Amino acid sequence: MSLIKEHDYGTPARSGEATVSVEIDGKTVQVPEGTSVMRAAAECGIDIPKLCATDSLEPFGSCRLCLVDIDGRRGSPASCTTPVADGMKVRTQTPELAELRRGVMELYISDHPLDCLTCPANGGCELQDMSGVVGLREVRYGFDGENHLDLPTDSTNPYFDFDASKCIACSRCVRACGEVQGTFALTIEGRGFESKVAAGAGGTFMESDCVSCGACVQACPTSTLQERSVVELGMPNRSVLTTCAYCGVGCSFKAELRGDEVVRMVPYKDGKANEGHSCVKGRFAFGYASHPDRQLKPMLRERITDPWREVEWEEAIGYVGSRMLEIQARYGAGAIGGISSSRCTNEEVYVVQKMVRAAFGNNNVDTCARVCHSPTGYGLKQTYGTSAGTQDFKSVDKADVILVIGANPTDAHPVFGSRIKRRLRQGAKLIVADPRRIDLVRSPHIQAEHHLQIQPGSNVALINAMGHVVVTEGLVDREFVEERCEDFTEWERFISAPEHSPEAVESITGVPAADLRAATRLYAGAHNSTIMYGLGVTEHSQGSTMVMGMANLAMATGNIGREGVGVNPLRGQNNVQGSCDMGSFPHELPGYRHVSDDVVRGTFETLWGRVLHSEPGLRIPNMFDAAIDGTFMGLFVHGEDIVQSDPNTKHVTAALSAMDLVVVQDLFLNETSKYAHVFLPGTSFLEKNGTFTNAERRINRVRPVMAPKTGKHEWEIVCEIAQAMGYPMKYDDSAQIMDEVAMTTPSFAGVSFAKLDEVGSVQWPCNDAAPEGTPIMHIDGFVRGKGRFVLTDYVPTQERSTRKFPLILTTGRILSQYNVGAQTRRTGNTAWHPEDLLEMHPHDAEVRGIRDGDTVALASRVGETSLRVKIAERMPVGVVYTTFHHPVTGANVVTTENSDWATNCPEYKVTAVQVSLPHPAPAQVK
Ligand code: SF4
Ligand code: SF4
Ligand code: SF4
Ligand code: FES
Repeated sequence: MSLIKEHDYGTPARSGEATVSVEIDGKTVQVPEGTSVMRAAAECGIDIPKLCATDSLEPFGSCRLCLVDIDGRRGSPASCTTPVADGMKVRTQTPELAELRRGVMELYISDHPLDCLTCPANGGCELQDMSGVVGLREVRYGFDGENHLDLPTDSTNPYFDFDASKCIACSRCVRACGEVQGTFALTIEGRGFESKVAAGAGGTFMESDCVSCGACVQACPTSTLQERSVVELGMPNRSVLTTCAYCGVGCSFKAELRGDEVVRMVPYKDGKANEGHSCVKGRFAFGYASHPDRQLKPMLRERITDPWREVEWEEAIGYVGSRMLEIQARYGAGAIGGISSSRCTNEEVYVVQKMVRAAFGNNNVDTCARVCHSPTGYGLKQTYGTSAGTQDFKSVDKADVILVIGANPTDAHPVFGSRIKRRLRQGAKLIVADPRRIDLVRSPHIQAEHHLQIQPGSNVALINAMGHVVVTEGLVDREFVEERCEDFTEWERFISAPEHSPEAVESITGVPAADLRAATRLYAGAHNSTIMYGLGVTEHSQGSTMVMGMANLAMATGNIGREGVGVNPLRGQNNVQGSCDMGSFPHELPGYRHVSDDVVRGTFETLWGRVLHSEPGLRIPNMFDAAIDGTFMGLFVHGEDIVQSDPNTKHVTAALSAMDLVVVQDLFLNETSKYAHVFLPGTSFLEKNGTFTNAERRINRVRPVMAPKTGKHEWEIVCEIAQAMGYPMKYDDSAQIMDEVAMTTPSFAGVSFAKLDEVGSVQWPCNDAAPEGTPIMHIDGFVRGKGRFVLTDYVPTQERSTRKFPLILTTGRILSQYNVGAQTRRTGNTAWHPEDLLEMHPHDAEVRGIRDGDTVALASRVGETSLRVKIAERMPVGVVYTTFHHPVTGANVVTTENSDWATNCPEYKVTAVQVSLPHPAPAQVK
């Protein structure tokens, strides 16, 4: 495949019903009102020369290269900033215009280093291209006068350089940072000849607010902002379209290669989740895939104290198969199980659950969604009938009020975070409910109307109080409720009880009643209000209750079933939606159908040729408990570092140590593999062929950029283990696995690799009823028929601060790192976050004599660790925060086994802790 180049129409598309007709160089074209002359021309195949314009940014009109003649207009206006008018007649090519353009180019080139042949952008530079397009043959002005050729290069960013000597001051980078990314880290300093791009207050990129999203690099028409990988490896010459393997936004990228080497990842403009934008992880942090730490050969050892022994695949797979069978013979069929990975493709996950159900002969399969969004699956299924978010990302462009609860999109879902920010700059209002003052609360050109700085653990009290205000202040959408919902009357009675009033719960939530009332009025009173939420909702003892509480609120106010509204989980890992869809839970077959459903089970039994169990199997925490009890002895862990990511590390390691066989499949030896007997090397996303499903139910293709470095696809390995256990399981390729998913799962009936390759991506349900997929759910009715109001009693968590543990710890992630850090810690991203820090309010630090940067002990009732403190005003008094990206910190050593009542999702967000300076060594005590 050659290099994919999307067409640049110069200015963004306009939408709207009204169109106008214009004639350009004799061609007539019909375009929406407000379209620029430049774009109208491009749409009829005429590319007008340009430098400062690009279709991801609003027109600016600074370079004067795009001049055109328009009948009846004086002079030659810039086509990028001139909107079309009905009946307009435009000429883009005349001898006079050609002369004017050559003159403009001549001025640019006279202040530009003429090193095209050695420039890294050679062949990919718009300045070079435009010189050719306008026919510039000579530059009359010498280079002796004043110029910018000696300006220095800023190389502080780990991934790209800023070579100021090549800058043409077109301002595309500045506008990209503002309009696309919403960070506003760049400005143009000075005027006229002195104009230059400055990062922050004139310092370096690393000293500025830059978050390294790459939008400026993408927008730069010259080699001024250039990926260092291009400088080192040369311009790429072919591309493969694929999907980012980090977060649940699911950004589409062009992996651009030179030969077999990936030179850069370029966000794909036609990617429906990201529309050409990216964040630092997807754009730059792909080097882990070729990191020398990768283990590429299978390894075995009898005991975890033995050294590893590299073996061939055949031996490793045979060993796993025979040991699993031995364990079953000794302890029973239910003594083994598997954990599937939300980082793997749908096809890989599907075969893991199939292996467990058909070859292991039980339902002991679970997934890491257990520890993140399992309450979403439960809560939305109970209320709406489906275990997924209601909207596509684009829908937020129509929202008037955005309620963000327990989510930090600018760090955890950055590309969607930028989209939210753009909508807020357009005038939508923002309500944030979060203990921390996350960046969204106040950032350039954005200010939340309300920050409900909620006490960790009191979400349900908050959402009930919002429901109370809606009901008691007459804000219910009666028509919607009557037509579309059931059990409202009971809920109305429940929620209007005085104990749910904002005043009554103020002491629980910490949110002033007046604020809560005002925020609710704003949410309920807008035409379109939408809820976005994250793990700050689900990772609580009442995670499922809170999801249902939000679903109630959206139904009561009629905010479901159209653009701009809805209840939307921001899924953490790249394929956490997909891993749930594929039947990774012990109680559900693919498509969220209960294992007790005889008809559904019958479909799989017929196809798979095995009798399947009708009773749910063990969840991850049950597996650990059973291991400690001596009844669960063999575990296959697929792409998940449970020792680092799951709560109460001591309990997890005790369980793993108790097992006879632990099989880990991963890219790197990790914390869990310390307890493993078999290590099976996995493949990176660059080697996979399959699909990921993002937070908006969008199924995106993951295409192989290279062959598996391990010699085998992960789905092949799983099939071979099943075969080694006597169950025939074989596919020709991963497309065939998706065909089986489509054959057995109604919401995927219309999905195939061929379909995805044809249309780019689809959002499930995709079937005969919705052949092009379903961007927005519950439009004409809820999936379960009527939307169901569920009573959501607030039950305080058992985890309380005490005299011994007076602070509440809450955990989360930051922009530059991802999950347990296995990938991002092996990239240049460590420049931003080399260690986990404990954020603490100045007051809490002061009373403990702690200063910024001090190393402290962090202790809970289950464990203790140490890490450095960052004093942070954004924390509320009494609450501390840390990330879990670095194994050396082991943040989960202190988190407890408390979990959501319905799904066992751990209560990561509430752990009572104490923070103290280490005791001085005895010798130092005077
Ligand atoms: S990388 Fe992103 S955040 Fe940084 S300056 Fe460029 S556009 Fe702005
Ligand atoms: S750095 Fe690039 S995009 Fe920014 S002003 Fe200079 S040439 Fe234009
Ligand atoms: S926003 Fe998420 S999916 Fe997109 S590039 Fe960043 S990490 Fe990847
Ligand atoms: S492209 Fe129109 S003025 Fe620069």
